[in-house]
Amino acid sequence: MDEETFQKYIKAGKIAAQVREFGKSLIKPGAKVVDVLDQIENKIKELGGEIAFPAQISLNETAAHFCPLLNDQTEFKDQICKLDVGVHIDGYIADTATTVDLSGQHQDLIKASQEALNKALDLIKPGIKIKEIGKAIHEEITRYNFAPIKNLSGHGLGHFDIHTKPSIPNYDTGDERTIEEGMVFAVEPFASTGKGVVYESGEAGVFMLENKKPTRNPITRQVLKEIETYNGLPFAKRWLEKKFGAKVNFAFRELKQLGCLKEFPPLVDESKGLVSQAEHSVILKDKAIVFTRI
Ligand code: CO
Repeated sequence: MDEETFQKYIKAGKIAAQVREFGKSLIKPGAKVVDVLDQIENKIKELGGEIAFPAQISLNETAAHFCPLLNDQTEFKDQICKLDVGVHIDGYIADTATTVDLSGQHQDLIKASQEALNKALDLIKPGIKIKEIGKAIHEEITRYNFAPIKNLSGHGLGHFDIHTKPSIPNYDTGDERTIEEGMVFAVEPFASTGKGVVYESGEAGVFMLENKKPTRNPITRQVLKEIETYNGLPFAKRWLEKKFGAKVNFAFRELKQLGCLKEFPPLVDESKGLVSQAEHSVILKDKAIVFTRI
């Protein structure tokens, strides 16, 4: 990795860390989720970053991918709130997440994913087997008597690509492959009071342009043109609702029919367990550089 690229990652990471802490401070009973997400995304731009994916806050048994539509009225009360933030500089992405416990009763659950992340990050160096990282996460979370979510994992961070190789599991998958210098990836343990398996549930608020196909409808063309400005990165339907109003539903129906859009519905714990998450991004040089820490 050249110095210029490295510095772009570092800058993205610094902004992501600042915005995560800022976002955390906004999560309070009575605040509206959608308002907090707007403020978080505005902060990213204010600090000179670009949005790598829509900010998301997933509550209680929803582990990830809750991204409300424009008219969503969900408010914070006594939930376990996972905040996931992604920032990029010229396509070089930092991905970080944290959990806020508004119930005041699940500090252990928060600690479990946080400590699992710390244990994993301590292990990371060139040549370590992927299964060893998963094993450390699994051991730490089960030490707290919770379950790691097995069908969610950390992921490589590519240029304008938030999910690439390597996949960093939250348990020992037996993956003998190693991580090596030059890799950039996110590590994200999830701890659940339930079984630790998630499934897609409910209406998606996050989408990605999968392939572009011609359409003659002027409304759809207009929406598609806007979507193309996101450079293939995930986006919120809410952003388009703001810009185009109810026309968006029509355009989305057509784009979905054409197979242009990939959607990311909320991921919910199958046994309705409460879920916590912690996430940092790493550049692997001769040692691990965790570039989303404050
Ligand atoms: Co991630």
